[in-house]
Amino acid sequence: MNKPNLCIALGRMVDPALGLDAVGELYLAEGRVCAVRAEGLSLGALPEGAVERIEVPGALVLPGLIDLHVHFRDPGLTYKEDMESGCAAAAAGGFTTVCMMPNVKPVTDTAEAVAALRRRASGINALPVGAITMGQKGTACTNAAALKAAGACALSEDGRSVADASVMRTAMAAAAEAGIPIFDHTEEDTLAGTAAGEACMAARDLILARETGAALHLCHISAKLSLDMIRAAKAAGYEVTAETAPHYFVFDQTRATEGNFKMNPPLRTAEDVLSVIEALQDGTLDAIATDHAPHSAEEKECGYAKALNGVIGLETAFPVSYTALVRAGHIPLSRLVALMSANPAAILGDPLRGTLSVGAHADVAVFDVAHPYHIAPASFRSKGRNTPFAGMEVYGKTRLTIAEGQIVYQDT
Ligand code: DOR
Ligand code: ZN
Ligand code: ZN
Repeated sequence: MNKPNLCIALGRMVDPALGLDAVGELYLAEGRVCAVRAEGLSLGALPEGAVERIEVPGALVLPGLIDLHVHFRDPGLTYKEDMESGCAAAAAGGFTTVCMMPNVKPVTDTAEAVAALRRRASGINALPVGAITMGQKGTACTNAAALKAAGACALSEDGRSVADASVMRTAMAAAAEAGIPIFDHTEEDTLAGTAAGEACMAARDLILARETGAALHLCHISAKLSLDMIRAAKAAGYEVTAETAPHYFVFDQTRATEGNFKMNPPLRTAEDVLSVIEALQDGTLDAIATDHAPHSAEEKECGYAKALNGVIGLETAFPVSYTALVRAGHIPLSRLVALMSANPAAILGDPLRGTLSVGAHADVAVFDVAHPYHIAPASFRSKGRNTPFAGMEVYGKTRLTIAEGQIVYQDT
């Protein structure tokens, strides 16, 4: 497709990787960032030929957001979501890269399955995550090197943990050898759903990663017990990264009374919520991911006990995080951009994303933070409506999303 030269003008460009926070002009050409202009700052060279100018006065102009953790339900469960609707929801939320968990039907456990998904990405950079074991059955390891060669960005057993420690050690050794990270759902089965269960499995896998040299990224961390340990591990020099999701810093377990507030791990105590915010501040947590987990209305509107686990998040993550963390005064905007873009890019080992640097992919998200609005699930691009944030007043509506130089979402 033909990529026009674009100039995103009059917005506030924020990029912690560049140390940039300035009002000015961002120029995009041939799918790359080609120049940045602001008072006292001139990077790169202006594009040759005609430039389409898009003025976004007062808006935030950020590197495209990166979500390390989504469920697109494709193939096999496409009544919940599919590749098209998932990618459209991502674009509508300002996300230009997402990592798709392998718990689909059939499980993403072969090079062929990874390659097929990779080819079907629509508009944005949708990266398959391969399973750790065949069929996610916990016994036979997948071929880490082959999955990586086919385009998998990570290996994960998400939806569950690998219960057998020796299988996990074998898988981590192979992942380390192949140079592919492990995205770890940490849940000790015999303590399922508890804070201790999350922390126990995180501890086991920290030890196995230390021993094998695997690059370990801990998914959806929700409990103070886990965060205390991750903090200590980082202080001791363990190479580990960790994510949380917006619902874990906005809601505590008193809200866990209806299906749209049910997910795994579950909402925790008010003390856990405070400790998640503290960990976002002090660097114990590296990323905010959504764990976007769409389900049908029937699967969620059947009472808390019967409802399936999972909530959607792609179209609410930025406004909810901006409102609850930045506007509330817990973290500066540059830290939020690091948590949602620069750090996830580093975890994926991709230096050409998560930044507005000259030469980077032209992945850009533009948000209006001047006007509040109410979250309205009926307007979502996702097939899912299972959000706990319906009706919430937030700031940070997406105005424009550009992926590799192509406009993939524009607020009308
Ligand atoms: O809430 C969740 N939903 N947690 C998981 O671990 C899996 C996910 C899903 O696939 O629905
Ligand atoms: Zn999980
Ligand atoms: Zn998940």
